[in-house]
Amino acid sequence: MTLLRLENVHKIFEKDTVNENHVLKGIHLDVNQGDFISIIGGNGAGKSTLLNSISGSVMIDDGKIILDNREIQEDNATKRAGLISRVFQDTKMGTASQLTIEENMAIAKLRGQKRSLLKRAVTEADRTYFKEILSQLDLGLEDRLHVDTQFLSGGQRQALTLIMATLVFPKVLLLDEHTAALDPKTSDMVMQLTNKVVTQRQITTLMITHNMEHAIQYGNRLVMLHQGQIVVDIAGKEKEQLTVSKIMTLFQERSGHALVNDELILM
Ligand SMILES: Nc1ncnc2c1ncn2[C@@H]1O[C@H](COP(=O)(O)OP(=O)(O)O)[C@@H](O)[C@H]1O
Ligand SMILES: [Mg+2]
Repeated sequence: MTLLRLENVHKIFEKDTVNENHVLKGIHLDVNQGDFISIIGGNGAGKSTLLNSISGSVMIDDGKIILDNREIQEDNATKRAGLISRVFQDTKMGTASQLTIEENMAIAKLRGQKRSLLKRAVTEADRTYFKEILSQLDLGLEDRLHVDTQFLSGGQRQALTLIMATLVFPKVLLLDEHTAALDPKTSDMVMQLTNKVVTQRQITTLMITHNMEHAIQYGNRLVMLHQGQIVVDIAGKEKEQLTVSKIMTLFQERSGHALVNDELILM
């Protein structure tokens, strides 16, 4: 079942100026309920703009974005935030650093409602619930509920951010290189956690990654963007059998470009 559909989506930055930049060039994408899609592509391909268009932090110039049979392209980001959760690369962006873990989680619990820092009061029932969820991370955060998140490591913060982003079940989860700022080992840890959360709860997820191994290993589907267009979209068996060299070949066949090595960071 199609949950999210992008129809002929165009984004042009600085339209009608000398700096006009046509970044998304007629994107068509049908995302099925439960899809876990890895999105790859070179710097400037339009990956972040694609996710920003879905979340509403970028308004598109043409086309439709349909979520659950409703056109959302005119809705502002705040309205969409009730349905769509995001995690970014910057580990400081997902949590309020001067609030404690439990205060952050209490706020996350209000996603979709009018969020207010004043509503961060934590009940005993909340505390029990938060502890139970955090203990599944195996990071010991369940014993640090009263610690401000500024004192957590980058990996701990991203793990917490992910838990917060999915505390209220999102219709769509958008991950924009959410492990890219972490060291390789921590990045793998957060990726494994991501996979567990996403697959166990069947959260429909679009994940941008620069890590080809992660793109290959995780998700049921892989999409490659090149100069604002989708040049590769594979799923199922074909996705399972992917290798880095197959991706290179596919890219060259479908885009008509040779893939220079630094277009994608191979890890
Ligand atoms: N808010 C913005 N205003 C103007 N130009 C932007 C904005 N966001 C992205 N761009 C431009 O759009 C192009 C694609 O950027 P982006 O979507 O961030 O690429 P990617 O995430 O694939 O590296 C780049 O040329 C970038 O400079
Ligand atoms: Mg980007």
